[in-house]
Amino acid sequence: MSFPKNFLWGGATAANQFEGGWLEDGKGDSVCDHITAGTVSTPRYFTNEIKSENNYPSHEAIDFYHRYKEDIALFAEMGFRVFRLSLNWTRIFPKGDEAEPNQKGLDFYRDVFKECKKYGIEPLVTISHYEIPYYLMDRYGGWLSRDCIDFYLNFCETVFKEYKDLVTYWLTFNEINCMMMGVGDILSGGIKSEDGPLQDFSAVPTREQKQKRFQATHHQFVASAKAVILGHEINPAFKIGCMVAGGAIYPYTCNPDDVVLAQKEMRMNYFCGDVQVRGEYPYYTNRIFEEMGISIEIKDNDLEVLKQGTVDFYSFSYYMSTCTTADEEAKKTSGNVIMGVKNPYLKASDWGWQIDPQGLRYLLNDLYGRYQIPMMVVENGLGAVDVLEEDNTIHDSYRIDYLREHIRQMEEAIRDGVDLIGFTPWGCIDLVSISTGEMKKRYGFIYVDKDNEGNGSLERLRKDSFYWYKKVIASNGEDL
Ligand code: BG6
Repeated sequence: MSFPKNFLWGGATAANQFEGGWLEDGKGDSVCDHITAGTVSTPRYFTNEIKSENNYPSHEAIDFYHRYKEDIALFAEMGFRVFRLSLNWTRIFPKGDEAEPNQKGLDFYRDVFKECKKYGIEPLVTISHYEIPYYLMDRYGGWLSRDCIDFYLNFCETVFKEYKDLVTYWLTFNEINCMMMGVGDILSGGIKSEDGPLQDFSAVPTREQKQKRFQATHHQFVASAKAVILGHEINPAFKIGCMVAGGAIYPYTCNPDDVVLAQKEMRMNYFCGDVQVRGEYPYYTNRIFEEMGISIEIKDNDLEVLKQGTVDFYSFSYYMSTCTTADEEAKKTSGNVIMGVKNPYLKASDWGWQIDPQGLRYLLNDLYGRYQIPMMVVENGLGAVDVLEEDNTIHDSYRIDYLREHIRQMEEAIRDGVDLIGFTPWGCIDLVSISTGEMKKRYGFIYVDKDNEGNGSLERLRKDSFYWYKKVIASNGEDL
């Protein structure tokens, strides 16, 4: 047996993608509430005003807000030991800069955590997962403003004190590297924006954009480190982790040009972990900033704070690996703007994400070798189209195959010596896709009856993978 006895098996979600109840009980609107639904070929749009003719999927999502008891009971039935969810900042601080919290928002999460505890499920709480208050974007320019550090800390202090007896595991920011990678200006940074597509992958970022991204990320680093320090003061037993979008980057060929380029791109993957685990900007920072022509403002005792506020564990999402090449021709022929160069040895999901279970073992060893602190895989899974049969069954053998292979590779990594403490596959219940805003891209063990247009009864149904995962957890990863 390779998985440790107390291994944290569970599943992961985020408030903006599954909670709904977008203005209930005093909740304010978050940036995500201003983003329309799209598809694999139609981009999502950000609108400053909420327009009645648009479909904003976060407004109802899958209505966890009203169905949390039923959903948590289903997680318990599968045997979850941990459940990853995020707090909707605007449920607790509707605008973001208030001194006092919204009691009803606090009550909601208390009820949710108590419900988890009833079944012996440990909540794993992401404090900020693409849920920055819209007001902070509009009034302050989001994370570009240092003021956000204090607003975030007030939020952290409130929830740390409020839930200190119910929650042990916290993540400060979801995929903190997304903004600097250029896919999170609006979602992660709340950087003020005109109405328009959520992402334009064909646009080459300007120097000014890069400058903003790294400055806003610096503010999040400082906020995260201060949150770690504060959290440990409030409850020394808290385990507070970072969360980074993970991905293995392979050289497309053994041409040293490709190898050195892949190494350079991997350094960008390490950048946030290096700051949050090691407590300082890495040795290669100056070169990166020099090449981009940017310099960020570091103030007061920021560097000291980073040094003190290092995380207790490292967590990451893992869906795919990518290849990179210095050869412009090869890029053109097998390129995929978002996902890098296609790896000829791998198959891809319907959304073009290349499936690479061994990449997970590779990355786990790579990261553990670098940081030597406990690791958690807090997102992984297959976004796929599911077919609901007439008898209300869903035969998702493709999802089982995907997860089985990834679990096998986690087991290999543990045998290699990696201190892996938990696994929370993404979207353990079907929810709204962040990149496309669709319901059709499903990850869940639990099917939710809702389509892309928002029609459906919201009924929950157990997929084949539900019974399979239950068996996996019961056997502690033995029976795959
Ligand atoms: C991660 C995010 O990047 O990937 C999640 O943390 C997201 O919020 C997940 O849902 C899967 O991406 P998508 O686009 O398939 O929903």
